[in-house]
Parts: sequence; structure tokens; C-alpha cells
Amino acid sequence: MQQVKAVVARSKDAPVELVTINVPDPGPGEAVVKIQTCGVCHTDLHYKQGGINDEFPFLLGHEAAGVVEAVGPDVTGVAPGDFVVLNWRAVCGECRACKRGDLQYCFNTHNATQRMTLEDGTELTPALGIGAFAEKTLVAVGQCTKVDPDARAAAVGLLGCGVMAGIGAAINTGALTRGRSAAVIGCGGVGVAAVAGAALAGASPVIAVDIDAKKLEKARELGATHVVDSSQEDPVEAIKRICAETYEGAEGADVVIEAVGRPETWKQAFYARDLAGVLVLVGVPTPDMTVPEIPLIDVFGRGGALKSSWYGDCLPSRDFPMLVDLYRQGRLDLDAFVTEEVGLDDVEASFERMHHGDVLRSVVVL
Ligand SMILES: NC(=O)c1ccc[n+]([C@@H]2O[C@H](COP(=O)([O-])OP(=O)(O)OC[C@H]3O[C@@H](n4cnc5c(N)ncnc54)[C@H](O)[C@@H]3O)[C@@H](O)[C@H]2O)c1
Ligand SMILES: [Zn+2]
Ligand SMILES: [Zn+2]
Repeated sequence: MQQVKAVVARSKDAPVELVTINVPDPGPGEAVVKIQTCGVCHTDLHYKQGGINDEFPFLLGHEAAGVVEAVGPDVTGVAPGDFVVLNWRAVCGECRACKRGDLQYCFNTHNATQRMTLEDGTELTPALGIGAFAEKTLVAVGQCTKVDPDARAAAVGLLGCGVMAGIGAAINTGALTRGRSAAVIGCGGVGVAAVAGAALAGASPVIAVDIDAKKLEKARELGATHVVDSSQEDPVEAIKRICAETYEGAEGADVVIEAVGRPETWKQAFYARDLAGVLVLVGVPTPDMTVPEIPLIDVFGRGGALKSSWYGDCLPSRDFPMLVDLYRQGRLDLDAFVTEEVGLDDVEASFERMHHGDVLRSVVVL
């Protein structure tokens, strides 16, 4: 066991605290990873606000890159010294989803078996089974994805959650390709990544929607061909108009990605699709939210598909190295997502800046 500094949320809405935690030595199937960087994702804020579950205290942070420090007995595949991006989809290979070949839906993803604790022994719940606002964390070995060690940790670590979720929503769940149009509602880290993914896939037009002009500027930098400020104009009408300018007769976008996680923006996405279009919900709603009232005839009559995208339907072992490679070739600007590098004691302030829309990603650098 060793003691390290880490960021913990003890109760709903209380500020996070930098405390000392106990990290067990890795057991079978486990690894201890020395964290180099960890992005601040909106999902960490959801945890802190009690929007995911009530299993306080949480060890926050889950968009991380680092170096494997130690592995448990019998571990193969990763070794001390490996540079890894942590993932929250260590597929089991044995559940019904894995057995039928849908590994991206694995119902039994692996996390460390042992628990990290507060100094008094209270068990911590690591955010998404990771908990990486910490000098070191304990994970299942399958949560470590080896990538090119020359890549910048602050940038490629973001593939561990939000950026992968966004890119994957576009290229995996939405299956965007050349000849298809895309719209993304909500352009935080996840939404802008969806914009980048749509552009990478060759979709056109790629329409970015947000209520914050700063976010729309960033979306343009990352590949949006059009931007819509939905605090100023009706986004559904704007998306329909822009798509019809490119494709005669289009009544909306082929794929609309909702990256806010709210009923009203989900409803906008529903109606902004072309006939037989796909809606991809990647934003995470809170438990009190319900599907907005929509006439069932509209669901039937418009056809298409209403999908959700967990982690961009990614397979870390397939998608992380591929995206790191595109980053190194200069085809995917992961650096553009890193608005600022901050310290471990700056997580609470980073939540504030996120709340005010000042950042795409604050990245804690250790
Ligand atoms: N599905 C997944 O696997 C997954 C993974 C990571 C994050 N998420 C979720 O994705 C969502 C976005 O995360 P993020 O880190 O990008 O958050 P963020 O706070 O950085 O971004 C949210 C964006 O939505 C915009 N917005 C808010 N209300 C809006 C409205 N009414 N219309 C248009 N835009 C609006 C904000 O201005 C902001 O730019 C969160 O719900 C997060 O929990 C999902
Ligand atoms: Zn499985
Ligand atoms: Zn996240």
C-alpha cells in the first residue's frame, strides 16, 4: 500500500478536497498507474453534484494519461514503464454482448477489484472506475491502453473520455461518412470532438450549435463548416436551411448529435434530422429528466434511429492508437482541446470555469 494526494468529493455540492488516500499494491489483474495528466470532464461535475449516483465519497478524474508503475502477479500485456491512456471500457470477453461480438456494449467491464480508501479506511468510489485526479491510481489492467510514448500526455489523455465519446458518437454510433450531413448540439469538449470526428469522416456540412459564441469559434477551428448560435436563432430551422443549401430537398441533417444532455436539446435534435436520419444522444441526462413529449406519429413518420452513445461506442484498443496516430500526423488537433493546464488543487476552480463556459478542457498536470 502507498499514500498519495488525490481529489475527493465527500458530499453533494460541497467543494472538492485535496486529501491523502491509500492506494493498494496491485493484485491479480490490476495495475498502479502514475498519473501525468487528467482532463476535467463534465461527468466529474455530475458525480460531484450527485447526478450519477450517491456512492460518496468519490475519487474524481477519469481522462488520464500516465505511466504504469507496477502490475499484479500474472499480468501480461502491460508492464512497468509503459505509457498508457486510461479507459473505462476494459471489455470482459465473456458477457452476452462480448460473446455475440458487440464488445463496445460489454455489460461487465473490468475495474480494479481492490478499493482505494481515505486514510481512515473509508472506501472511495473512483469516477468511472478510474479516479485519476491523483498522483497514482489503481485500475484493472485492461483499463490501460498503450499508446505512442512520444505523444503529449495532456492531449492524448483526453481520448480517455470526452474526446473519444465525441469522436466516437460521430464515427462509430452515427457512422458518418462522405456524402452525409452532420449537426452537433452543444459544443463543449464532447461536442467539439463530435464536430472534429464528423469532419474527419468527411461529412459535410458539419453544423455546430451552441448558446455560447466562444464555443462556436472553437468548433469552427475543429472543422465546423457552419455555426448556429441557438440563443439567437431557432437551431432546427437553421440546420434545415443549411442542409437544404447543400443537398436539394434535404429536410435536416443525416445525423444530429446531442452533446448537452437535456430534454429540450434532445427534442431539437429529434426535429433537426432529415427523414430517416439518426439522432445520437451523447450528453448525459440527470435521473429526473424524461423524454420530451413528442407525438408518436412523428417518431414513426420520420423514420430513422434514436440512439445513445456510451463512450462513443469505442473499443479503446482499436480506437486510441488510431486517433493518436492521426494526431501525430497532424490530422486531428487534440492540442486544441487543451485550454489550460492546471494543478491538482485547481479542480474546483476548473469546474467553475467549465460552468461559465470559459474552457473546452482544463487539464490537471501532475
Ligand atoms: N456519453 C458519454 O460517454 C459521455 C462521455 C463524456 C461526457 N459526456 C457528457 O457529455 C455532455 C457534455 O460534456 P462536456 O464535457 O462537453 O461539457 P461542457 O460543459 O464542456 O459542454 C456543454 C456545452 O453545451 C452547451 N449548452 C448548454 N446548454 C445548451 C443549449 N440549451 N443549447 C446548446 N448548447 C448548450 C454549453 O454552452 C457547452 O458548450 C455532458 O452531459 C457529459 O456528462 C458523455
Ligand atoms: Zn463483456
Ligand atoms: Zn468523462
